[in-house]
Amino acid sequence: MQIILGITGGVAAYKSAELARLLANQGHRVRCILTEAGARFITPLTLTSLTGEPCYGANPDQGEWRANPSIEHIELARWADLVAVVPATANILGKAANGLASDLLSTVLLATRAPVLWAPAMNTGMWEHPAVQANLVRLRSFGHAVVDPGEGVLACGEEGSGKLAEVAAIAEAIQVHGTPKLMSLSGRRVLITAGPTREDLDPVRTLTNRSTGTMGIELARAFRDVGAQVQLVLGGELPAPWGVETIRVRSAQQMLEASEACWVGADGLVAAAAVADQRPESSASQKMKKVEGAESLVLVRTPDILARLCAARRPDQWVLGFAAESEKHLEHASEKLKKKGLDAVLVNDVQGGRAFGAQANTLTPITAQGPHPPLGPLAKDQLARAVVQWWAGHLAGRPA
Ligand code: CTP
Repeated sequence: MQIILGITGGVAAYKSAELARLLANQGHRVRCILTEAGARFITPLTLTSLTGEPCYGANPDQGEWRANPSIEHIELARWADLVAVVPATANILGKAANGLASDLLSTVLLATRAPVLWAPAMNTGMWEHPAVQANLVRLRSFGHAVVDPGEGVLACGEEGSGKLAEVAAIAEAIQVHGTPKLMSLSGRRVLITAGPTREDLDPVRTLTNRSTGTMGIELARAFRDVGAQVQLVLGGELPAPWGVETIRVRSAQQMLEASEACWVGADGLVAAAAVADQRPESSASQKMKKVEGAESLVLVRTPDILARLCAARRPDQWVLGFAAESEKHLEHASEKLKKKGLDAVLVNDVQGGRAFGAQANTLTPITAQGPHPPLGPLAKDQLARAVVQWWAGHLAGRPA
């Protein structure tokens, strides 16, 4: 994405440097525009060094500033896939809400047709003032997104709301707001199971597997970004993705119960969880003591969540499953597709430990029509986006 990052005058301006770096590291091109007040808190040199792109401002005579020919605001407005203002002062919110264009940033905001996102930061009294709140209502009515500030001790010493939202949350909101929505998925409710499950032997020992849950979490992000309403039923330790309703579970039974509750209202299911197939027959309430000689453990099957949800599916609900195969990938996956009655199965080659925690990965989709061209090898975030694009295209071509 090509992002214009507008930085206005507030102490939180130093955090925009961290945001610029994070966005650049995620592969986005970031060009910063500093207002005159913003330039009192952070320098253009910092921003050009972090982004590798020019920094723009109102005053071309100062050090690193790029020249500011009269049509620059139009060029920048067209260049942007998204304009984010971080931190946004009461002043810039007031200007933009009322169509005022008195410097480079406010003119770009007026000229651009790209999505706009605001991350305000200011004193609590200013934030709560009806004029600021009315301006935010107006900006939202233009389709702009607002990442509300959090609460905390502010630079002015007051405690209350007005603290800039977390940088990571702003970066996620930029991703959501800047991603074009897909017709076949926008507004649709998608249930995703992700992560490993854990089956306890006693209070200190557990049976689990090597899945981290990364792929399922990236799928949740990718479906969220194209406009789906995602419910994520998540096992494991990884943090929940921003903006996704997440239900945390531990065992296969808990994952089944949470998933069944969501499935009734869902349009589709993506079963990305690595569910433990067995659990100990019994779980001890006290730590089990070791004994001399060989010990044995009796295992029983856990519920097959995907099969149970498929059995309860309505004709309008779609289902994507995953298959981790170490040999005869397409053959085994095609059997799974038929046996469980899935719309598609995404096959993962796990030979030699591939896929678990690996950086780059490949998935081969299989439908009733047979295997489709493989997606990848790609990093898991990109692979998740490729899966969503592929599936949205498939849905769009499917008769209603
Ligand atoms: N799955 C599930 N509940 C289980 C087991 C698996 O929902 N108890 C889902 C997984 O999320 C995945 C698919 O089923 O989408 C994998 O199917 P499965 O037949 O379990 O695959 P493998 O574990 O690869 O199968 P096998 O043991 O036959 O190799």
